[in-house]
Amino acid sequence: MSGGHTRDARMAAPDGRGADPRRIAALGTAVLEANWRTTHTVPAPGLYPHQWSWDSSFIAVGLRRVSPRRAGQEMDALFAGQWDDGRLPQIVFDPHRDQDYAPGASFWQSTSIPGAPRHAETAGLVQPPNHAWAVWKIHQADPAESRRRSFLERSYPKLVRWHGYLTGRRDRRGSGLACIVHPWESGTDNSPLWDDVMARIPDDCRTPLNRPDLQHADAGERPSQKEYGKYFWMAERYRDHSCDDEDRDYPFLMEDPLFNTLLAVSELALADIAAELGLPAGVHRERAQRTAEALEQLYVPELGCYSARDAITGAVVRKATVNGLMPLLLPGQAHADELIATLNGPRFLGGGALMVPSYDATAEDHNPALYWRGPAWFNMTWLVAEALDRLGRTGQADFLRGNIGKLAAEHDFPEYVDPWTGAAHGTRSFSWTAALALETTYQRSAL
Ligand code: SER
Repeated sequence: MSGGHTRDARMAAPDGRGADPRRIAALGTAVLEANWRTTHTVPAPGLYPHQWSWDSSFIAVGLRRVSPRRAGQEMDALFAGQWDDGRLPQIVFDPHRDQDYAPGASFWQSTSIPGAPRHAETAGLVQPPNHAWAVWKIHQADPAESRRRSFLERSYPKLVRWHGYLTGRRDRRGSGLACIVHPWESGTDNSPLWDDVMARIPDDCRTPLNRPDLQHADAGERPSQKEYGKYFWMAERYRDHSCDDEDRDYPFLMEDPLFNTLLAVSELALADIAAELGLPAGVHRERAQRTAEALEQLYVPELGCYSARDAITGAVVRKATVNGLMPLLLPGQAHADELIATLNGPRFLGGGALMVPSYDATAEDHNPALYWRGPAWFNMTWLVAEALDRLGRTGQADFLRGNIGKLAAEHDFPEYVDPWTGAAHGTRSFSWTAALALETTYQRSAL
């Protein structure tokens, strides 16, 4: 339980050292520079040594402020890992770092899976689809450079195929929502949203449980060994079925409000991209609308937010998480007032939080230091601030954006923080923290 915390005394005055925009921008840029690896940015030098899918989109959003060209390269490197069925993989592996992360390229052996690229080693899973949104933002940062390099022309067909995979093969129940097949696909690995279904997943994986992650972060701030056994078990089963999405008895199929909101937001970005290229845009707006309408199946009135649904049992999880606030990003959101009330109530910001907790602060099992079970993450807080800004709630958006930059720069760009004290957790020099500190700093001040 962490409700009732008050604002931390370490909060600097708005123009204090911690919030100096030039300093935040310089430090954030230095992290991105240090984490750049020829074609892409690693999320963190030790803990995450490869290229991660949705990380790259968040990274590119900030990187475009200092180098739109490099931000475009970031997306190109990810697209190089695209499968024939359109999927953009969760991870594109750096072959030189196979011992440094598990499960790695030698676990997936993707080049022997039909339809996977021959020239890149990748995971078979995916991550939330924020890519078209990032591509459109990169273009807007320097349209002339983007046009010179035909960035939208070459990205658009890849993004259309990516969304086609999600709205086609991943709409496993014909509900109009894409299913995720593994907690890693949600980006919010050990969120309480997956607890019920995780309870029925075996943990006796065949692959030895190697945990290089524990060399870079405290075990108390990472998923448990038991959870890892289950993660590996599911990844093995998915891989052993050639990642073909046709395994009828596969036990983890979840419809997540975060994943599907980003799909709709990205589909709207595809409409903007299509219009810019002189192509029909209406089809994308209609698809985004269909996803937004389908999301209504996940609204839980008594929580005042959306939640995840188990696509196998049909059960909607009765837990409030930051994932369930994300439909606030959708234009014309019918439940905007309820979502704002929930955001500002005791479950999230009401207790004086500096950034948005990942999980209901009033829940008995809320833990402000454990990965996706309580702490505040910079990407989620940035997404909420984007939504608030779009709704004209610019003061609160600015408050959150200010805290993103300040807490990031004060604590060496941590992976996540305690929502009330701002205390840093997880790894440091985390790329999307640096990128979104840059982005929010540019959003707030003319640098
Ligand atoms: N977030 C996962 C990890 O911690 C993988 O995407 O390794």
